[in-house]
Amino acid sequence: MVYYVSDFPDGKLKGKPKQIGYFSVIDYGGNVEFGENVKIGFGVVIISVSSITGSKKTDYIRKPVIIGNNAEIGSNSCILPGVTIGDNSTIGAGAVVTENVPPNSVVVGIPARVVRQKNYK
Ligand SMILES: CC(C)(COP(=O)(O)OP(=O)(O)OC[C@H]1O[C@@H](n2cnc3c(N)ncnc32)[C@H](O)[C@@H]1OP(=O)(O)O)[C@@H](O)C(=O)NCCC(=O)NCCS
Repeated sequence: MVYYVSDFPDGKLKGKPKQIGYFSVIDYGGNVEFGENVKIGFGVVIISVSSITGSKKTDYIRKPVIIGNNAEIGSNSCILPGVTIGDNSTIGAGAVVTENVPPNSVVVGIPARVVRQKNYK
């Protein structure tokens, strides 16, 4: 089972992953957009609205998440509000993605950092 949820009636979900694993949650309350041919592993959480705000003095953080074409998102990773994942990029299993990911990159870890560039010839 995969959950697509929004507590905001105006939240928009654009596109759908080509493949998505069990126990994934997509919260599109702040808008989530999927490009073409996106693959997602098991237990991935994509958050576009958060009532957990850390040091930000606000009731919630609500920012769109954009997943580029051909992106791959490894199992048990978490994509936070406002993140754009560039085309052809890969998120390693267990990563917490706090910032934008450039196209053609492999990112891993917490917080996610670029470890490879894909140079397809
Ligand atoms: C990221 C991944 C795709 C490998 O990509 P890659 O470009 O071949 O990268 P490499 O295996 O060469 O690893 C690069 C570096 O990142 C590290 N690394 C790889 N995956 C990692 C992960 N998930 N978390 C932390 N570090 C990781 C490697 O140890 C290596 O470190 P080093 O340079 O210090 O030796 C793969 O490790 C991964 O996480 N796959 C997700 C699988 C999955 O969840 N599938 C869902 C079911 S279909």
